[in-house]
Amino acid sequence: MNLSKRYDGDSGALSKKGDAPPFAIRGVDLEVEEGDFFTLLGPSGCGKSTTLRSIAGLETPTSGAISLAGSALFEGQEGHLPRVNVPVNRRALGMVFQSYAIWPHMSVFDNVAFPLQVMARAVRPSKAEITRRVDRMLETMELSRFADRPATMLSGGQQQRLALGRAIVTEPDLLLLDEPLSNLDAKLRESLRFELRRLQRELGITTVYVTHDQAEALALSSKIAVMSEGKVEQIGTPREIYTEPASKFVANFIGTANFIEGRVLSVANGFVILETCHGQLEINTSADIAVGSAAIASLRPESLEITPRGHISGKNFLDGVIVGRAYQGDSIDYIIRVGDDELKARTSTEASFARGEDVSVFLAESKAKLVPVA
Ligand SMILES: Nc1ncnc2c1ncn2[C@@H]1O[C@H](COP(=O)(O)OP(=O)(O)O)[C@@H](O)[C@H]1O
Ligand SMILES: [Mg+2]
Repeated sequence: MNLSKRYDGDSGALSKKGDAPPFAIRGVDLEVEEGDFFTLLGPSGCGKSTTLRSIAGLETPTSGAISLAGSALFEGQEGHLPRVNVPVNRRALGMVFQSYAIWPHMSVFDNVAFPLQVMARAVRPSKAEITRRVDRMLETMELSRFADRPATMLSGGQQQRLALGRAIVTEPDLLLLDEPLSNLDAKLRESLRFELRRLQRELGITTVYVTHDQAEALALSSKIAVMSEGKVEQIGTPREIYTEPASKFVANFIGTANFIEGRVLSVANGFVILETCHGQLEINTSADIAVGSAAIASLRPESLEITPRGHISGKNFLDGVIVGRAYQGDSIDYIIRVGDDELKARTSTEASFARGEDVSVFLAESKAKLVPVA
């Protein structure tokens, strides 16, 4: 869809004097497939909401195209009036945002019934059908026993479930969720996370979800687009994003990673030899990378193996000293000083090393990933 959006108006903080305002998103290209739970993930201000609001029709992109199930919702070019711009209420979307926008003056039942009652006469379900669908939705959301209560007499989590039920009762073609769990406390957020995924699967609703929380994104999504500064850095399944980060930004933003910089000495048979300040490292890669180019080895803490110093040595073993240790119950986290670097490792509790202990760290060649220097 190659979407760009520049907020105009005189929001002076954003634009430098005289310049056109900067782009909030620039060349965002996404394809969401039917049934996907597609997440836009990135730090605050990277353009997630702008993208989502453009899909919703709440923002008019500066240029680009958006289509849903083959029909155009938006098409436009900078400096011209949009060729196509379907209004919000004609886009067949369900939406839930961060603040739970329930209607406080209505009962729980009426909150869910309302979107059906205001449907165009031609497609509006009968009164009996509306009651049936609302009852079923309240059951799914586990809100049946509160049906007659004023919506304001629900807890935060219940209100958010209500907002969700209201958004999907019309069976929208696309559900748009912008950080819908971020106002809830940690425990509730986690339980609603599972519920949301179950519901989405059961009902098969194609969903675009916005969050800055990487754990939430990994747990919920079938696909993730990682965004940074108005651009998409990588699109992939949670596993691909985590195990094959396409850039240092992605490796750093998703989970924890160690980075060792180096220069490519040789490339052969799916292996790269990287010359680093800790010596040569051998790394598996399918990437097309030129001899002599700069590259970064990215290693997850759980892919480092620690052995007592002098036990084994050889390629990809680095000498280090344990400088930090934190018992986590099911694992132990270490910080290991290797030369001028500090590497983070997460190991099983089977072996234990003490602070100050000399160790060797093994970097498995198949678990290290090469990422290009930005
Ligand atoms: N209404 C607006 N007017 C001007 N600038 C805006 C507006 N909304 C967002 N922006 C700017 O656009 C960029 C992207 O914002 P946003 O899409 O809200 O990011 P995110 O949802 O990822 O936190 C930010 O730099 C933000 O300050
Ligand atoms: Mg936002």
